[in-house]
Amino acid sequence: MPFMVLVLLLWLTLTNTGSSESINHVNTTNIPIQLFCGRNAPSNPLNFNENRDSSFNQLRLNLLSNRVLYGTSQDLTGGDSVFTLARCWNYLSVDECVACFDAAVSVLVSCPDGNGAYVLFDNCFVRYESFVDFYTNPHAEQDAGATQFISCGNQSASQLELTYNQTVSAFLLEIRDVTPKISNFYVASAKEITNANATVYAVAQCVESTNQTICETCMNIAYKKLDNCLPSTEGRFFDMACFVRYSETQFFNDNKITDITNVLKDNVIGNSVKVTIVASVIGGVALLLSILISCLLYRQRKKSKKTEQDVDDLEGAIRYNYKDLKLATDNFSEGNILGKGGFGEVYKAILGNKNIVAVKKLHGVHARAKTEFENEVKLISIIRHRNLLRLLGWSSEGSNLLLVLEYIPNGSLDKFLWGARKGTLDWTQRYEIIVGIAKGLAHLHDELHVKIVHRDIKSSNILLSDDFKPKIADFGLARLQREDQTHISTTGYAGTFGYTAPEYALLGVLSDKVDTYSFGVVILETISGRRSTEVVSGTDLLLENTWKLYEKKMHLNIIDEMLDLNQDEQEQVMKIIEIALLCTESPVSNRPTMSEVVLMLREGQLLGNRELTRPTNFVHNQDRRIHIGT
Ligand SMILES: *[C@@H]1O[C@H](CO)[C@@H](O)[C@H](O)[C@H]1NC(C)=O
Ligand SMILES: *[C@@H]1O[C@H](CO)[C@@H](O)[C@H](O)[C@H]1NC(C)=O
Repeated sequence: MPFMVLVLLLWLTLTNTGSSESINHVNTTNIPIQLFCGRNAPSNPLNFNENRDSSFNQLRLNLLSNRVLYGTSQDLTGGDSVFTLARCWNYLSVDECVACFDAAVSVLVSCPDGNGAYVLFDNCFVRYESFVDFYTNPHAEQDAGATQFISCGNQSASQLELTYNQTVSAFLLEIRDVTPKISNFYVASAKEITNANATVYAVAQCVESTNQTICETCMNIAYKKLDNCLPSTEGRFFDMACFVRYSETQFFNDNKITDITNVLKDNVIGNSVKVTIVASVIGGVALLLSILISCLLYRQRKKSKKTEQDVDDLEGAIRYNYKDLKLATDNFSEGNILGKGGFGEVYKAILGNKNIVAVKKLHGVHARAKTEFENEVKLISIIRHRNLLRLLGWSSEGSNLLLVLEYIPNGSLDKFLWGARKGTLDWTQRYEIIVGIAKGLAHLHDELHVKIVHRDIKSSNILLSDDFKPKIADFGLARLQREDQTHISTTGYAGTFGYTAPEYALLGVLSDKVDTYSFGVVILETISGRRSTEVVSGTDLLLENTWKLYEKKMHLNIIDEMLDLNQDEQEQVMKIIEIALLCTESPVSNRPTMSEVVLMLREGQLLGNRELTRPTNFVHNQDRRIHIGT
């Protein structure tokens, strides 16, 4: 062991002095591959171009000062809004990225006056538009410009074609499956071709701000197209949502290779893949060693610099120092409190780099083992979906457990339904919110490798982005509660009165249908602008009242009087109320899964052999008021 350390130290010293500086495999020649210039001129080109240029300047500054490879920036001065985006592939250094960005901008500004344009290079992609949607939905367009790009090299592999095709195809398949499951949607990997003196290098990267489904779809297409390139030694695929390239020529450096073995292990992809893993493990020992060394180096370098965040990186989430978060929240001052949730207060925090985040202080969480907390953080942090609030980092020092989350200035849905901003949401916005929540929940239930039941869906847990898209907060946290707290035997359970499915509130029976129930309640609140706990008629709460009205086919009466709906919209709302009622049915098996709900909302009707039956649990509802309280 001491000998090993000595060897490592020796290696470190050698590497540190730079005596074994390796060559850079990145091709830094920046020649545009594909350019699209928008065809419609903005209303005021002068103002628009000014905003575009200032936004690009800001973006360049962001890349350089934050040392990042992805960024957005906007300038809305004078009404001609411009939104810009830069994406460099993750194997680049920041300086290489900025060089590509500069080349891209000089090409883009030479387009004739248009309200949007983009350009693709081997190393980066830069786009600007007059609308913001393309940040999260890369395919959003207003000018029929979003296209795919595919190019196969004109050289064929010198190896036996069959072996080559099989190996590379399997390799690309691995990458297709793994990329959407990795937190930053990025893979760089290399594969030796057995019995041939050759290695194939591949990189895949989905848009950072998109969701797993969009990434998956894009990777599927990429795989199909690139598979057709074989036995060509080179292939590139680009679509607005992802970029994939493979080549026999090394185009990124060894230290940028990402470790995908864990993801491959977690997802049983097939035996053939497992065999290749074993094979590559043997061949990969040297690689691991060099990765270990670069990690050590990285640590060393980081330590010498005084930085706000520790180097620990859990699937993209960052470990923060408690004292930095204390500073950022002004010592957790009252004035910085954004809200109080079931798990503790949420504070607004301004980090050293001026980024605004939300910091959640967790109480009542059993921190018996820190690793348990960190495992949960790890699980939550790999979840990326536009309707789920993103976890950016965490801190766990002593008994202080903190989560660092996306900051959403607009606040929560309840404010817009009956709070300070009551009546500001129109029907289209409310409908989009309902659909968004459903998609977020379907993702938690059905699209991850573990099923996550939220257990506490309510209007105050739904945050609204600047463009009123919903983001579900607090998911994954219920699992951190003490065992006894999740049962009804004690005063607190994960749910909230008025939203919790009866079988969970009364008997502690947990399933994904618990969320379906609460979601149904949130639909009714969103449509009516009233709280589920409000007595709306006689002694009836919102849900009971809606049922009674439905039986008389008068359920349109619950619609928020702030809404002014036309005939078509009224029809639509009626169907959605029926979907909400189906969601809150008992027995549990009557309720649809959230994926089914998404489908029903899209179709605007109940699907399958379903009819609404009067629920039997109103009596229990009465009980609940007495036993559990708020
Ligand atoms: C680098 O990229 C440019 C433009 O794509 C290309 O023409 C050139 O051949 C590449 N150089 C190498 C060494 O691959
Ligand atoms: C393998 O290829 C490299 C360059 O492509 C060459 O330098 C080397 O001699 C080759 N080795 C064998 C055993 O053919």
